[in-house]
Amino acid sequence: MAIYPGSFDPPTKGHLDLIARGSRIFDELVVAILRNPEKAPLFSVEERKEMIELLTSGYKNVRVDTFEGLTVDYATRVRATAVLRGIRAISDYEYELQMALMNRKLQPSLETVFMMPAEHYSYVSSRLVREIAAMGGPVGALVPGLIEQRLRAKFGAARKSKATAPASKRGRKRNLQS
Ligand code: PNS
Repeated sequence: MAIYPGSFDPPTKGHLDLIARGSRIFDELVVAILRNPEKAPLFSVEERKEMIELLTSGYKNVRVDTFEGLTVDYATRVRATAVLRGIRAISDYEYELQMALMNRKLQPSLETVFMMPAEHYSYVSSRLVREIAAMGGPVGALVPGLIEQRLRAKFGAARKSKATAPASKRGRKRNLQS
């Protein structure tokens, strides 16, 4: 059994591609969402769990969970033998290598398995998706339709409330003579 830990804020087509690949090589795959008290997320952990559950409902051997603390402790608790991580490009490698070796130091029996998502997702990241969606750009090629809708709901609502807020709150200077 393997865990696929991450932030998934929001889940992208790259994450989904990796889940599909992981589900084919592991008997069971647990998508494990980190509860990180240091980060203010766009989607709550509960929202992300629900979204990933909906997106992976077609896989019999995939389930979704949340965890706090060290990944190795969570892996030990659920009796996982491997940690699945995606590597998109060389730029991911250094961080992922450091994390894999540190996890090995903490828990030598736990293996990290790297898989590459499809090359056409190699430039997709949750951070860029958040940035583009926040500015009203198109994210349909980067995230599943469900996530696109949720992003639109989140940022559409934010934009609407900004537009109806008093001008002083919108940060726009009014011409005093008009
Ligand atoms: O999707 P992300 O943000 O790249 O995932 C990073 C994650 C959650 C896998 C990593 O930050 C992590 O494992 N955090 C849990 C705390 C931990 O175990 N830290 C030591 C890592 S060597």
